[in-house]
Amino acid sequence: MLGPVILAASRSDKMRRFVSAAPGTKQVVDRFIAGETVDQVIPIVEDAADKGLEVTLDVVGEDITTPAQAEAARDAYLELIERLKVLDLGPRAEMSVKLSMFGQALEGGHELALANVRPVVEAAAAIGTTVTLDAEDHTTLDSMFAIHEELRKDFPQTGCVIQSYLFRTEDDARRLAAAGSRVRIVKGAYKEPASVAYQDKAEIDKAYVRITRILMEGAGYPMIGSHDPRLIAIAQELGRQTGRKLDEYEFQMLYGIRSDEHVRLAAEGHRMRVYTAYGTDWYGYFMRRLAEKPANLLFFGRSVLTK
Ligand code: FDA
Repeated sequence: MLGPVILAASRSDKMRRFVSAAPGTKQVVDRFIAGETVDQVIPIVEDAADKGLEVTLDVVGEDITTPAQAEAARDAYLELIERLKVLDLGPRAEMSVKLSMFGQALEGGHELALANVRPVVEAAAAIGTTVTLDAEDHTTLDSMFAIHEELRKDFPQTGCVIQSYLFRTEDDARRLAAAGSRVRIVKGAYKEPASVAYQDKAEIDKAYVRITRILMEGAGYPMIGSHDPRLIAIAQELGRQTGRKLDEYEFQMLYGIRSDEHVRLAAEGHRMRVYTAYGTDWYGYFMRRLAEKPANLLFFGRSVLTK
């Protein structure tokens, strides 16, 4: 029951101020956030590459309120891409973006987000890599999928995320499982109403399996975003059943979560991509990580109390 309460707190400015100022917060945040600056994240990308891991980089931020902030988000990604150019990792270091950070919720937001994200996708393509559009709450998804479709006209490798907790997602998966597409399936991290989403964990997991099957049977490139050992084993089995080679799909996990498993799957010959978030506006991202595993809250509480 704690998860939904934490997710509600993730939208509260009062809680944002409290959590950000609490002593001990930084220690817990550091587990999930790879650094505050591009200078701090680059060595982490290099270290991952040395271990045979790939990365998708997320400059944290969402729910911005001015067009200038959306442009700043665009520029932060462009700066990151400049730095990645030197590492020459190609598609082994890609970007994940949240369209809300590019202005999607502002007036004229759909066009604004598209205008801001396009140069990022262009710059990524110029260094031989790609961008994946994260899935946010359900009210933003029609716009996200339309932007994805628009970007794919010029940059067919642009990826997107679908969430197994939403009723709509099996249909989205069928539409997206076409040649050349890159689709990340995740369970879903937002607080969604029962009118649009399964609330029961078992139902969400069953949907995840059905959707993974659709993606594996399709002609696109499935990206399995989960730390759940059972779902990972099922995805491996579905990969075998559908005759996919190990490089014809990939696993993805979050920085700081089940890190041993990242290395183990890579050593088995799988493509393993670590979603590596960095930046200063970490509050929303951090609170979703707490909500996914309320035991993290105990750790957080202990850390705050012992400071
Ligand atoms: P589950 O929550 O059942 O966790 C399985 C096990 O993993 C847990 O028992 C625990 O051991 C470990 N674990 C999971 N979360 C943890 C945490 N926070 N702290 C510590 N341990 C944890 N969501 C979304 O709505 N839109 C998006 O675009 C994305 N993008 C995305 C990218 C990638 C690469 C991943 C892995 C996940 C996302 N997500 C996301 C988040 C996703 O929706 C989901 O909330 C989390 O992945 C947790 O679900 P699991 O599948 O890991 O299973």
